[in-house]
Amino acid sequence: MGLLIRGGEIVTAESRSRADIFIEDETISRIGLNLDVPAGTEIIDAGGKLIFPGFIDPHVHIHLPFMATFAKDTHATASKAALIGGTTTFIEMVCPSRNEDALEGYNVWKQKAEGNSACDYAFHMAVTRYDATTEAQLREIVADGTASFKIFLAYKNFFGVTDEEMFNTLTLAASLGVITTAHCENAELVGQLQQLLIAEGKTGPEWHEPSRPEAVEAEGTSRFATFLEQTGATGYVVHLSCAPALRAAVEAKMRGVKLFVESVLPHFLLDKTYAERAGVEGMKHIMSPPLRDKRNLPVLWTALKAGLIDTVGTDHCPFDTEQKLLGAQAFTQIPNGIPGLEDRVNLIYTYGVKRGGLDLHRFVDALSTRAAKLFGLFPRKGTIAVGSDADLVVYDTEYRGTISAATQHTNNDYNGFEGFAIEGRPSVVTVRGKAQVRDGVFVGEPGRGRMIRRKPHSAAHQVAQQEVAHAR
Ligand code: URP
Ligand code: ZN
Ligand code: ZN
Repeated sequence: MGLLIRGGEIVTAESRSRADIFIEDETISRIGLNLDVPAGTEIIDAGGKLIFPGFIDPHVHIHLPFMATFAKDTHATASKAALIGGTTTFIEMVCPSRNEDALEGYNVWKQKAEGNSACDYAFHMAVTRYDATTEAQLREIVADGTASFKIFLAYKNFFGVTDEEMFNTLTLAASLGVITTAHCENAELVGQLQQLLIAEGKTGPEWHEPSRPEAVEAEGTSRFATFLEQTGATGYVVHLSCAPALRAAVEAKMRGVKLFVESVLPHFLLDKTYAERAGVEGMKHIMSPPLRDKRNLPVLWTALKAGLIDTVGTDHCPFDTEQKLLGAQAFTQIPNGIPGLEDRVNLIYTYGVKRGGLDLHRFVDALSTRAAKLFGLFPRKGTIAVGSDADLVVYDTEYRGTISAATQHTNNDYNGFEGFAIEGRPSVVTVRGKAQVRDGVFVGEPGRGRMIRRKPHSAAHQVAQQEVAHAR
């Protein structure tokens, strides 16, 4: 049986028009005014609503063994939270530690997700060590449809790679035609600064930011760009948080380095005073790179509007209050991470589009289309077009609400954005033509999500990356 979404206003990264959307066999088969449809077609009335392509979160952690504990969500909880917030596909970081086998890790992550996700998903493969076995394993992982890598310049001895390992990873990525995402902080400097601060008795969460100052991130960003330039690889800085790092990225873009930039939800809305709150309240706001001085926030918004920041992700990484208290004696032990998967779309719509002058098409681009293009999901995902997957968000711009842990679906006992007002939320969310969410309630198939396999060197992927580069 088909599905008709009738009377809404379709908004993509490029265009806006009122039309009906007819869906058959999981994909969009017709778009037009007053479509005739077969008897028995299910109809969703979208009158007065906007219809966006399903949103894509390019940076989430669900299964994550990290800092002596595990992130709290399962694929079941995270995917429902994602869908309720309008995200229909996420890309999860596969992060085995340095002393684990990469391929075994990849298979563990895949097994955790398979059959348990209500929305579609893909993976970035973290390269946390580069030795004699790595190249063959990465070739196998890319052939399996995971056509993007992740490296950490931070977290020395756990996820972090040396410069030599970064060089080898990027050289292989360039030859395979896959994009490499990178957490850019100088691990050595962070380690030294942490030791100095702890030795001075500065142990509270307010010292996390001074242990990873803006210069540490700017250096990491600039070094990553230099390595991209020398290897010819394509790169993507994750969770860029501050003006000096942005300057380093923009300088690299201007000299032709194939570098793209993501910033994440917390860095647009929260500043370091949240992490300076006393005790566990501060600990709840510890992530890396840290929440920054508030002068950075308008800089990030301006760069987002201008397209210098390509995408907005979340770096979703929930740890509950008890887990955060692992760092009660020393900020270096606080599990790093702030959840946001459920709230990204509504918060960026409210504080970007409604209140901040962010263009509605740039909003769709940054939260869906550009990630689809950069990571080889486009045009299957990231747009509303005949032939695309019917992942759609019927959006109610009249809705008014407040973010609260009491009503969230993410598996955590607090919300870093507690008390933030929202002006809009999805009223219907479909995944490949099946309504999974209606008015904030999950109503669908818990195991509907599929792994979306991506091809390296795919013509669409390359063309899309060039398009994004030229559009800047
Ligand atoms: O604090 C963060 N960002 N936690 C998740 C791991 C990472 O660095 O992305
Ligand atoms: Zn990171
Ligand atoms: Zn992350």
